[in-house]
Amino acid sequence: MNIHDKSGATAYTPNIDRYQNMNYQRSGKSGVILPAISLGLWHNFGAIDSLHNAEAILRTAFDLGITHFDLANNYGPPYGSAETNFGTIFKKNFTTYRDELFIATKAGYDMWPGPYGNGGSRKYLISSLDQSLKRMEIEYVDIYYHHRPDPETPLEETALALADIIRQGKALYIGLSRYNAEQTTSMTELFKELNVPFVLHQDKYSILDRTIEKEGLLTALEQQQVGCITFSPLAQGLLTDKYLHGIPKNSRASKTLSYLSEDFVNNEIQKVKQLHQLSEARGQKLSQMAIAWLLQQKAVCSVLIGASSPNQLKENMKALDQLNFTEEELTLIDNISLS
Ligand SMILES: NC(=O)c1ccc[n+]([C@@H]2O[C@H](COP(=O)([O-])OP(=O)(O)OC[C@H]3O[C@@H](n4cnc5c(N)ncnc54)[C@H](OP(=O)(O)O)[C@@H]3O)[C@@H](O)[C@H]2O)c1
Repeated sequence: MNIHDKSGATAYTPNIDRYQNMNYQRSGKSGVILPAISLGLWHNFGAIDSLHNAEAILRTAFDLGITHFDLANNYGPPYGSAETNFGTIFKKNFTTYRDELFIATKAGYDMWPGPYGNGGSRKYLISSLDQSLKRMEIEYVDIYYHHRPDPETPLEETALALADIIRQGKALYIGLSRYNAEQTTSMTELFKELNVPFVLHQDKYSILDRTIEKEGLLTALEQQQVGCITFSPLAQGLLTDKYLHGIPKNSRASKTLSYLSEDFVNNEIQKVKQLHQLSEARGQKLSQMAIAWLLQQKAVCSVLIGASSPNQLKENMKALDQLNFTEEELTLIDNISLS
């Protein structure tokens, strides 16, 4: 329920039933439990976006039982502004609920000028987290990721910096993103020596992008019992109804500051149309089938989606109503997407 205060602004009272419709899953063999669907703030939360819409998306997410919000130092644009906006929204809406939330940030990509604003060095990782905490106006994050491997910095240095961040209490858990199977295994060994709670691996995975299956990362995570949280599960919106009849205005593919190119959409659209037919036969939207398909992979503990409106979140959440696939459906999905 929302209550109007004297200024006319709405105060937020979360949905009392918020934990009833979401599935929660353990990440690997850790103590961390995540919602089956988590929300990422890569797009739609920067200084160029509507703060009002961003607030509505975050409120809707929490009302739906989404307890995990995923940020990074460089989300915006400009860099850092998603964290700043998140801080503003958090302060107004979620301060009371801090212990019900699992907040992530990351560092690894280019963030500030000069030699210390990028990579995997102790200098960068520790300063960047301090900056992120200031922007978000929170005292700690639940999980801090190294956003991508840095071939120039020894793994030992990165692992020790992350260990020290844990000891300082600025993060409760550590995650890795975009590390391949071999790099993840090496880091797991270092983390074990340093007693670092490494609990989550984040990578790109969808019906249309099987790289982590092919390269063995998914199997390695399953064997090591480390949870996998998958990003861009909708291929940035392509695995929805949105592009079936062309590229609409205001869609991610229509924007200049976007990693979803028109060429990619046009190359993949025939597959998307066939997948859409299959989703209709299953009685669900394509976006819902794409999320459900990821959730039946054993290592996947959460699917990290993006949304440009509260309604998209509500629609995607209905993936949980139909999670089962027949062998025939799985084969058909492989035949379409791997052709
Ligand atoms: N670790 C990393 O390196 C890394 C990299 C990328 C992302 N991530 C994380 O993963 C999160 C999710 O990534 P993503 O945003 O690419 O995920 P995604 O879920 O594949 O794409 C989200 C976009 O799809 C569209 N969409 C969502 N639901 C829809 C629906 N029901 N109908 C129509 N369109 C819909 C929206 O775009 P429109 O604007 O077109 O509406 C939305 O912003 C990010 O926010 C970030 O936290 C991490």
